[in-house]
Amino acid sequence: MRRQSISYALSTAALVAFGTLSAGAADNAAVQEKAAVCSGCHGENGISQTENIPSLAGQPDQFLQWQLVFFRAGSRKNEQMQPIAEDITNEDVRSLGAYFAAMTPPQAGEDKDPDLSKKGSQVAVGRRCASCHTDTFAGTKAVARLAGQREEYLVKALRDYKSSQRVGGGGAAMADVAYHMSDEEITAVAHYLAYFK
Ligand code: HEC
Ligand code: HEC
Repeated sequence: MRRQSISYALSTAALVAFGTLSAGAADNAAVQEKAAVCSGCHGENGISQTENIPSLAGQPDQFLQWQLVFFRAGSRKNEQMQPIAEDITNEDVRSLGAYFAAMTPPQAGEDKDPDLSKKGSQVAVGRRCASCHTDTFAGTKAVARLAGQREEYLVKALRDYKSSQRVGGGGAAMADVAYHMSDEEITAVAHYLAYFK
């Protein structure tokens, strides 16, 4: 527990140094042009229709900025994202973060397996996911939104943390969480969160 809070505090402190958004940046045409490239994979309005590609709409601004920085630095590895992130400036990072954060988050559809959600909700309580991700799972600061995210992407992300395939700044907190989870727990909690309303 102690290690978790230390690594999380460190990532938050580093983010303050990284800087905040300048007013109105999200409005400019340049950002819309850049964001059009993203929509090709992440979907119109930041809502993904593609397996293993996350929705970005409504993610916390700081979370988005950090992930772009991690891809650019190569500390988060992905064949599709890395070439894109290599081309973006710090200013792009800030304006793209603000742009997607301001979009309406994905709305969960009908939950076809409420029993699995019930199991997932028990996992979330037992593992205290809401203590960092907030009670609505909307995320905050460098902590991701989980509510309404694609189910198979949530599974992938948790497996990636568990296997240390995904690290990143706040990732140390998630590695500690995911390391102790069984695949059954991962599947259940991902379902619960994907349909969370
Ligand atoms: C060629 C397809 C593709 C394009 C174009 C693309 N992405 Fe991605 N993006 C991905 C994939 C795939 C992932 C998931 C990576 C993983 O599994 O770790 C991802 C992940 C991300 C994440 C992490 C989100 C999370 O919830 O973990 C962010 C932020 C992101 N992309 C932003 C962008 C932005 C901004 C653009 C446009 C400048 C963009 N992407 C363009 C494929 C793409
Ligand atoms: C100690 C704080 C903490 C706790 C507890 C925690 N998380 Fe996280 N979580 C984070 C942080 C910080 C990130 C962003 C990490 C990064 O930069 O990769 C994150 C990211 C994630 C992601 C990646 C989302 C994305 O879009 O890429 C998933 C999935 C996730 N957490 C699920 C969970 C689940 C499920 C639980 C409970 C079993 C949980 N988390 C508990 C702090 C926490």
